[in-house]
Amino acid sequence: MTSTVITNIGELTTHDEQPVRHDAAIVIEGATIAWVGEATRAPSADHHVDLAGRAVIPGFVDSHSHLVFAGDRSAEFEARMTGTPYGAGGIRTTVAATRAATDEQLTSHVARLVREMRHQGTTSLEIKSGYGLTTRDEARSLAIARQFTEDTTFLGAHVVPADTDPATYVDLVTGAMLEAAAPYATWIDVFCERGAFDADQARQILRAGAAHGLKGRLHANQLGLGPGVQLACELGLVAVDHCTFLDDADISALADSGTIATLLPGVEFSTRQPYPDARDLLDRGVTVAIASDCNPGSCYTSSMPFCLAVAVRDMGMSPAEALWSATAGGAAALGRSDVGSLRVGDRADLAVLEAPSFVHLAYRPGVPLVTQTWLGGRPVL
Ligand code: NIG
Ligand code: FE
Repeated sequence: MTSTVITNIGELTTHDEQPVRHDAAIVIEGATIAWVGEATRAPSADHHVDLAGRAVIPGFVDSHSHLVFAGDRSAEFEARMTGTPYGAGGIRTTVAATRAATDEQLTSHVARLVREMRHQGTTSLEIKSGYGLTTRDEARSLAIARQFTEDTTFLGAHVVPADTDPATYVDLVTGAMLEAAAPYATWIDVFCERGAFDADQARQILRAGAAHGLKGRLHANQLGLGPGVQLACELGLVAVDHCTFLDDADISALADSGTIATLLPGVEFSTRQPYPDARDLLDRGVTVAIASDCNPGSCYTSSMPFCLAVAVRDMGMSPAEALWSATAGGAAALGRSDVGSLRVGDRADLAVLEAPSFVHLAYRPGVPLVTQTWLGGRPVL
């Protein structure tokens, strides 16, 4: 097995018992971190990489994205910036364009977005369906997503499509559509929100998914208060995403259940909604993850550094908390323990920054600081 020693790491974040190390080195064997310590004590290896004082962080784990789509909604964004509020109805615009696209067009578009993500330090990602909303289009969306990640999520319950009624559609999502989607999916998700699916429908859809071996997650409390967060906690889901509007009982339920609150700072940025109070969540013992939610409607950024910077600037997180949430937090939200940190035995998925410290990710917003992304022990950029 080939080994590589990376030395002269100015600042190394591992999320280990010694979370930040200076003048550090790591040794990678195959795809795995084999040794972490002071650069002066680094053992030799087949290959040597000198980082000249740059910072190294675990690769970002983006636990929430909707990359399989076609069409453009920049006009909707433009209208929003001059006063039109965000609504779930825009999803249907993307559905029409996605249904009309070929597999090749959808695949090359996902590839382009994944490449964008890699350039910004993302090493693991989740991809949802949800812009097909027919049996054929949901199944092919997931088959395409599977070419890029194992963490694929069936989101047939994104919105009720224009050509059907809610009861008929829930029957389809829990029946033939689920049957066709399940072979390509690991997770099942429901947009539990006024105007999308209510708590009873969400429960029914998640239960049907579980019967097909799919693990549940929820979009909830994005556009207003609602039952979604407490439903996720009651069902013991690993994560519930958005959490923009939370009341006291929601926060207590999150803290008591251990369900992770995945915050999506780019969504509030791009919809002009209020930011969730991450500080309050952390102080009350809630585990917080940060993800991009990259999608054509509510947030078209693929940049985890951008999301991290907004979380620090506007959601009350320290840079260290935001980095944890965007790496180890995302890994936890996907039930992964081998990524999101750089401990001995973890996958060697990491990002090298053109900066002396990870703090620069928030301190220098919008600057392309990621100069190398390593996946499974090898640089991919
Ligand atoms: O995560 N909440 C639902 N789905 C997406 C937005 C979908 C869209 O507007 O196209 C989200 O925000
Ligand atoms: Fe989403």
